[in-house]
Amino acid sequence: MVAFYYKYKSFFLLLLAGVFFLSFKIAKTTNIAISNLRCEYLKNPLGIDNVNPHLSWELSSSERGTRQTAYQIMVSGDSLQLKNDQGDMWSTGKVKSDETKQIIYKGKPLLSGKVYYWKVRIWDEAGKISNWSGIQYWSMGLLKKEDWVAKWIGLDTIYPITAQDKYIVPPSPLLRKEFDITKKIRRATLYATALGLYQVYLNGKKVGDHLLAPEWTDYSKRVQYQTYDVTPMLNSNENVIGAMLADGWYSGALWSHFYRGRYGYNRRLLVQLHIEYADGSSDTICSDGSWEILKDGPVREASIFGGEVYDERYDPTGWMKPGFNVTCWKKVFVDTAISIPLNAQMNQPIKVVKEIKPVNVFELKKNKYQLNTYIFDMGQNMAGWVRLNLPYNPGMKITLRYAEMLNDDSTLYTENLRNAKPVDILIPGKEDRIQYEPKFTYHGFRYVEISGLSRPPALSEITGKVIASASPIVSNLETSDKDLNQLWKNILWTQLGNMYGIPTDCPQRDERCGWMGDAQVFSQTAIYNMDMEAFYRKWFRDIRDEQTIDGQFPNYAPYVTEGLRYYDAPGWVDAGVIIPWKAYLNYGNKAILANNFKAMCKFIDYTYDTNPTLIRTNEVGQNYGDWLNGNTIKASDYPTKGGSVPKDLFNTAYFAYSATLLAKACKVLDKTQQFKHYDSLAQAIRNAFVQKFISNDGTIEGNTQAGYALALEFDLVPPELKAKAVKHMVDAVKAYDDRISTGIHTTERLMNQLSENGYSNIAYKLLESHRFPSWMYSIDQGATTIWERWDGYVKGRGFQDYDMNSFNHYAIGSVGEWMYKHILGIQPDEKAPGYHHFFIKPVPGGMLKWATGTYHSVVGKIGVSWRKEGDGFTYEIEIPVNSTATLVLPTEKRITESGVAVEKAKGIDFLGRKDGATTLLLQSGKYDFKF
Ligand code: BGC
Repeated sequence: MVAFYYKYKSFFLLLLAGVFFLSFKIAKTTNIAISNLRCEYLKNPLGIDNVNPHLSWELSSSERGTRQTAYQIMVSGDSLQLKNDQGDMWSTGKVKSDETKQIIYKGKPLLSGKVYYWKVRIWDEAGKISNWSGIQYWSMGLLKKEDWVAKWIGLDTIYPITAQDKYIVPPSPLLRKEFDITKKIRRATLYATALGLYQVYLNGKKVGDHLLAPEWTDYSKRVQYQTYDVTPMLNSNENVIGAMLADGWYSGALWSHFYRGRYGYNRRLLVQLHIEYADGSSDTICSDGSWEILKDGPVREASIFGGEVYDERYDPTGWMKPGFNVTCWKKVFVDTAISIPLNAQMNQPIKVVKEIKPVNVFELKKNKYQLNTYIFDMGQNMAGWVRLNLPYNPGMKITLRYAEMLNDDSTLYTENLRNAKPVDILIPGKEDRIQYEPKFTYHGFRYVEISGLSRPPALSEITGKVIASASPIVSNLETSDKDLNQLWKNILWTQLGNMYGIPTDCPQRDERCGWMGDAQVFSQTAIYNMDMEAFYRKWFRDIRDEQTIDGQFPNYAPYVTEGLRYYDAPGWVDAGVIIPWKAYLNYGNKAILANNFKAMCKFIDYTYDTNPTLIRTNEVGQNYGDWLNGNTIKASDYPTKGGSVPKDLFNTAYFAYSATLLAKACKVLDKTQQFKHYDSLAQAIRNAFVQKFISNDGTIEGNTQAGYALALEFDLVPPELKAKAVKHMVDAVKAYDDRISTGIHTTERLMNQLSENGYSNIAYKLLESHRFPSWMYSIDQGATTIWERWDGYVKGRGFQDYDMNSFNHYAIGSVGEWMYKHILGIQPDEKAPGYHHFFIKPVPGGMLKWATGTYHSVVGKIGVSWRKEGDGFTYEIEIPVNSTATLVLPTEKRITESGVAVEKAKGIDFLGRKDGATTLLLQSGKYDFKF
């Protein structure tokens, strides 16, 4: 053996050294993994225009109690250099910080059109360093006005002559240009936008997966442009760039402006293609006077509310190919009068986010005028359109009509669509197979009627394309109750149906506006469901764009009404303060507050100036109050009075709440002077509220469920009256025989306040009830999305008033917030925003035997599962790295974690037992509790 050792001595020594080196290395490296790197809240965004972008990442680890104590970021314009650890644009060195999100880039100036690569590594709580993350990137947009050399192009300028002209939608023009490439391409980037909607094609293929771009903004103030990497789409010799234009929100009819031209009649295209060659040289191809245009493209008519008529016979064969004969085309008109500011699109684009197949098809025998009419049931109320894929060509006009519901005779129920006419018509051309989907419209529907086919269609021949802003879905929730699971799905589907660059109220009727009251009450649910940070940033700017000089906010944004003013409605306009605050609370991003701060102050100043008595009675616009409260329900066996909270009370409660949030925002932003002012204003409004609306016995004027819910939720009830007010709230529910009488503003707030004050049993009762009016009632009627009204459809009575009867309206789906906050128990902490610390307070109740769910917060995944087991419970909890959570378990019994008493378990601080609950502080990691 000794001889053996000497023979191989050097090998042994080497092995020893290796083991030593390896263990040294292992000891030095943390096992925390870095993922989900984002720039400006987006993954690898192209064409951003913030020259100091925000960088974020997430951490995960299988161990408990892991934390980041420092980070290092490197940025380079060259991915190879970065791979070799050279951050020529920015290298932060080791920065002592536990922050993982919204780190502001402070490197060398970022240049127009350039791509930047970045990576990050971190140090953990023991000072151990991580590996470098994978390399991610972003690219800059065209930052300066001079960077835009492209010209706005289109058809000759027209103006409607007669009043009737305003209703006639002209065909979509086709635009094209040929160009040659003679050198090897390194990278090609296309920047595009339009006044109207556009689709751009390179060599016959659509550029990018954006749909309905550019999304709705106040086009009189700004339009967003989109950036695409088109490197693989270019040919090495002859190329053709083509485009189509349509009305969209710019030229098309809009709610309260039911004819063309709210922003302009003339659709325009702006395109700039940058080609960088391998030899370092570059070329720019842009929209200019050299392009050709054809007035009559195959899209004969398209509008958001009116569907699309597509006539393939007008599709000039080969127009997207080089060498196409353009004799019937003419040169474009170059519009030099346009000076609208361009902003990079920094929110997730609208695109196809899901595809679904129909669940049923039947022939509509009723229609004696039109033979061969079939109705497809998509099985899901949705927003988007359908794609036809028919392996036969009837050579006949095919008509698609859309509706959310069916009448009793199985025909489409379309009355609730009001002036929207969701009809897509396809007139087939020469192809012997039909593959068609619309481009420049969208519909809210579950049922699709199709007529004009030569034979009965098969289920496989149509596909539902669900179209929405592609903000990631960040959660899931499942319980032992299948109806509750359906409710959760309905809420998510309703959100998906109403994210079109702005949060719309509904996707089907002639409205589809960014109503701020609805968005406000739904905002916390929206944030639990989807990553809303980039989406809201865009929409907050839309809201600010509509604020008047003296501080008034509109009731909806972008704002289009001419004549009548839709401004000032309390509960709607307050969204300008409330949603930015909610976004800050959840994302921990001070920039959200900073960007909106001036607008928030102006709004509160204006409300105060016009309401010096602090009771908000003046400048209240349409004064909607608690919209769609119980008094609006039409049904026998339901009270006709008693649901509506007095409007002065409702309005003043919102005033107090908004002023309080503004004071909090001042504090976050270190605005000491302004804090003093708004804090004392908020206090004064609260006092005025108490004096005017709350009696000494805790009753609140009107004695409505809504009044108590609002006052308690906005913290307006003095501590000494709180118990009494809660009791009155509970009695107000009893007075309705354990049914809801609240409107869109107070339903979630009632649920929340019941739970906050120890009455989760009542909240569960309301949630699980199948009796009308209730969420489950709608589910029993087959709802797959949230209805605008509790009584949208009532068995025996039929549909509500057609004028306002959407079946895809998220406001009362705000109960999703309650489900996350009280079933899973996940709640953000105002003292540590952005889930740096948060609460988990699940309250098992009702008929539930188990619940499980995750929420992917801005710092990573949170998981909660609980299950009743005999007399006891199990709880599985997951806390993301770099975060801590206060867990409140509903027992004073002995609790174990992975078999060990919680008092001794690793990663847990025992905080105490009191009032039937045990409170624990959890470090990051996974836990398994039993009691
Ligand atoms: C919308 C609502 C909105 C309301 C204002 C309606 O037409 O659909 O959801 O909040 O107008 O009252």
